[in-house]
Amino acid sequence: MGRVQDKVALVTGGASGIGLSTATLLAKEGAKVVVADFNLEGAKQVAQNILNDGGEAVAVFLDAGSEQSIKDAIDFTVEQFGTITILYNNVGTTNLQKDLDVVNIDLDEWDRLMNVNAKSVLLGSRYAIPHMQKAGGGSIINTASMAAFAGDSVRSAYGASKAAVVNLTKYIATQYGKDNIRCNGVAPGLILTPAAKQNMSQEVLDIFEKYNALPYHGEADDIGNTVLFLASDESKFITGQTIQVEGGHYLSNPSIADFHQLMSQAKS
Ligand SMILES: NC(=O)c1ccc[n+]([C@@H]2O[C@H](COP(=O)([O-])OP(=O)(O)OC[C@H]3O[C@@H](n4cnc5c(N)ncnc54)[C@H](O)[C@@H]3O)[C@@H](O)[C@H]2O)c1
Repeated sequence: MGRVQDKVALVTGGASGIGLSTATLLAKEGAKVVVADFNLEGAKQVAQNILNDGGEAVAVFLDAGSEQSIKDAIDFTVEQFGTITILYNNVGTTNLQKDLDVVNIDLDEWDRLMNVNAKSVLLGSRYAIPHMQKAGGGSIINTASMAAFAGDSVRSAYGASKAAVVNLTKYIATQYGKDNIRCNGVAPGLILTPAAKQNMSQEVLDIFEKYNALPYHGEADDIGNTVLFLASDESKFITGQTIQVEGGHYLSNPSIADFHQLMSQAKS
């Protein structure tokens, strides 16, 4: 008996990174999984790998910026597996050329990120909740980001959209809790997905690691395992929370890493 045996999950952005890890872990623990992504070929590959490992999965195209596409993905899930009891709203994006500081940010990029990162959570939930109500309950999990909790020199729209995800998580939890529908979030710090590894120099990665409380970086499975827990009945009394999975990067007085360095220099 798996930890999410026979539950039906839709994972958005499931073709790569955190979504791929989560889809795989949910299937390993007995869920029937729909892998949704606008990279349909990638999503099909993930579904095939799950099938090869003896799990149950199918892929579907999703454009998280389109209401119709989100509705279609939910309908597809219900057609395939009869219901939906786990919704993982995971798609999130930014464009570092346009998502700048407040004075210079491209306003169309602001609108795009509010739509793709935040409104997609509202819409996925809007179309999944009636099915969860019929099924007697469900678990919605949203990918936020530590960018929701701290300022940055750029990525103003990304940070604001992820803060919206954190708050929407509480609203959904409040509004549908009595229907036995839980809603939680996960806020990753830097996670070494293939995209992150490709886009960051070793120098940048070293800066991140220096300020982690733990001596290593996060990996996609660190988020996947948290989502698996939130999807399972093991977390049945947890709702409205956003769990920060970030290696203690934001844990302490921000100057602590520099003090550690100073102290070790003084000792030597
Ligand atoms: N990796 C990190 O360090 C990190 C940190 C904080 C938050 N996050 C969040 O985690 C989530 C997943 O990120 P990841 O690092 O796994 O990214 P990723 O780029 O590896 O995967 C994202 C997936 O989403 C798909 N996608 C993107 N836009 C889409 C759209 N509009 N419609 C449908 N599919 C779309 C992509 O094709 C891709 O398969 C995002 O919400 C991101 O903001 C990631």
